Amino acid sequence: MKTIGTFAETRALVSGRIGLVPTMGFLHEGHVSLIEHARSMCDTLVASLYVNPTQFDESTDFDRYPRDLDRDSAIAAAAGVDILFAPDDEEMYPTPLLTQVHVPALADRMEGVHRSGHFAGVATVVAKLLAGIKPDVALFGRKDAQQLAVVTTMAADLSFPVDIVGGSIVRERDGLALSSRNIFIEDRTAALTLHVGLMAAADAFEQGVIDGAELESVVVDSLGDVELEYVELADARTTERLVTLDRPAFIAIAARIGGVRLIDNVYFTGTPLVADRGNRLGAESMLYDEGDS
Ligand code: PAF
Repeated sequence: MKTIGTFAETRALVSGRIGLVPTMGFLHEGHVSLIEHARSMCDTLVASLYVNPTQFDESTDFDRYPRDLDRDSAIAAAAGVDILFAPDDEEMYPTPLLTQVHVPALADRMEGVHRSGHFAGVATVVAKLLAGIKPDVALFGRKDAQQLAVVTTMAADLSFPVDIVGGSIVRERDGLALSSRNIFIEDRTAALTLHVGLMAAADAFEQGVIDGAELESVVVDSLGDVELEYVELADARTTERLVTLDRPAFIAIAARIGGVRLIDNVYFTGTPLVADRGNRLGAESMLYDEGDS
């Protein structure tokens, strides 16, 4: 695996069908599952690693976002990445950004209400990655279900010749959705109730409940000591709130537990609709490997 800092060098090295897994680093099994999936779909696999400042609405969150290039390089190489594209700010934003990509119809709800400017930052940096690396396929985790919808629409609307593919959530042994921020959680019992609520909603759906408000209440009723921001049943493509679960959709939740903001969801896809509850690890996540936190 080569670690490269510029778009030009990356483009000079790739050939055949190109896959891209965009990340902000501090890799975990969720990223690894996307990388492994991407590996089976392409000839050259690029993973990008860039903690994008423009998508953080809180500077403290940006400052404390975990960063460890050596650790990430080892994980990416072992997972099958050919090129780790790790640009600096100068490469990503050489001049003050005068152009922004907005997908307001999809972005201005749920996360957009609580994280002002977040999706403009995401859509813009992903557009830059697609333009600069020119992948044939790019993979994003379903953990950020709204992000997946925003990026899919942005890529189609701007005619990027790329397939956007979503990957199932990977969960820790106890069900918590993997996130680089999990290393900061203090009240794990409270954090786990997000997952418990979502699984209860998936159970309710499987028992025939399709009313959106009822499914959302099932989640809320399971929550412990968390500061809830939202629970919504949303159309997987448009992110519009749904009254009835009758098409591909997700129930998304965001809550703060102590100083840590967590998001999670359960996704419903296929015909007939089936709940994608994510895949649980059998052992402790690599997020907790000694020396990494
Ligand atoms: O999901 C993430 O890690 C980021 O939002 C992404 C897609 C890499 C853009 O910075």
